[in-house]
Amino acid sequence: MKFALVTGGSRGLGRAICLQLARENQYHILLNYHSNDSAAGEVQKEIEASGLRCELLKFDVSDPDAVGATMEEWKKKNPDAVIEVLVNNAGMTKDGLFIWTNQKAWDQVIKTSLDGFYQVTQSVLKEMLQKRYGRIINMVSLSGLKGNPGQVNYSAAKGAVIAATKALAQEIGKRKVTVNAVAPGFIHSDMTAEFDESELKKLIPLNRFGEAEEVANLVSFLASDKSSYITGEVININGGLYS
Ligand SMILES: NC(=O)c1ccc[n+]([C@@H]2O[C@H](COP(=O)([O-])OP(=O)(O)OC[C@H]3O[C@@H](n4cnc5c(N)ncnc54)[C@H](OP(=O)(O)O)[C@@H]3O)[C@@H](O)[C@H]2O)c1
Repeated sequence: MKFALVTGGSRGLGRAICLQLARENQYHILLNYHSNDSAAGEVQKEIEASGLRCELLKFDVSDPDAVGATMEEWKKKNPDAVIEVLVNNAGMTKDGLFIWTNQKAWDQVIKTSLDGFYQVTQSVLKEMLQKRYGRIINMVSLSGLKGNPGQVNYSAAKGAVIAATKALAQEIGKRKVTVNAVAPGFIHSDMTAEFDESELKKLIPLNRFGEAEEVANLVSFLASDKSSYITGEVININGGLYS
């Protein structure tokens, strides 16, 4: 049985990615989330209605003990399952000018994106290398490429994951495991709900925020066989805002 593991799959981009990887790529889904049980349950219901499995794995991606214990327990219970796709999507922001950024806001943002990438990727990589097949997709951001004022912590976290994507891709390409990053601009989700879209869209050539489903379409392609000669890439999806 083939699974795709999506972190932060309960809401926003992760939710759309779970639904798309089930519908288009026919993967059973391992849906990780942090705290929103009802949102995760809604996605699970929708996927299971289509006849595929969707299992909920509740853990903080930055907590090594929680990631290790949950993944080990799941693997023990599902010895025949293969995790072919990992989407490191969980992320958070704690915005503010750097001069006012306290240690907690720095640590939380860095740990969720960067330690989350480390912990969760470590938990599935060995099997991918043994099977000689895998797709790892890291959700980064325009902020990690261009830098964004008020988001020094978030820009640093996403920039680090971009560098890790490129380095890991070179380490493991021989084993047919690809690693790519997707860098969205402004996409409708809870994370951008407070943003002033009418002002910001003036900066965007396509003149609108993107939809989570549009990001999910790109992830679905990268998660498929069709992307077999793409690795170590960072793919922008931002309506032309930055390239
Ligand atoms: N929206 C955008 O415009 C945009 C642009 C560029 C990049 N991104 C990136 O895209 C990804 C998804 O963003 P989004 O807009 O969909 O965010 P969102 O609506 O805030 O959803 C965040 C998701 O991540 C989960 N999550 C947060 N911290 C976690 C942790 N420590 N452990 C496990 N799960 C955690 C949340 O789980 P709960 O539901 O349990 O809280 C939720 O499912 C993030 O990496 C973000 O940085 C978004």
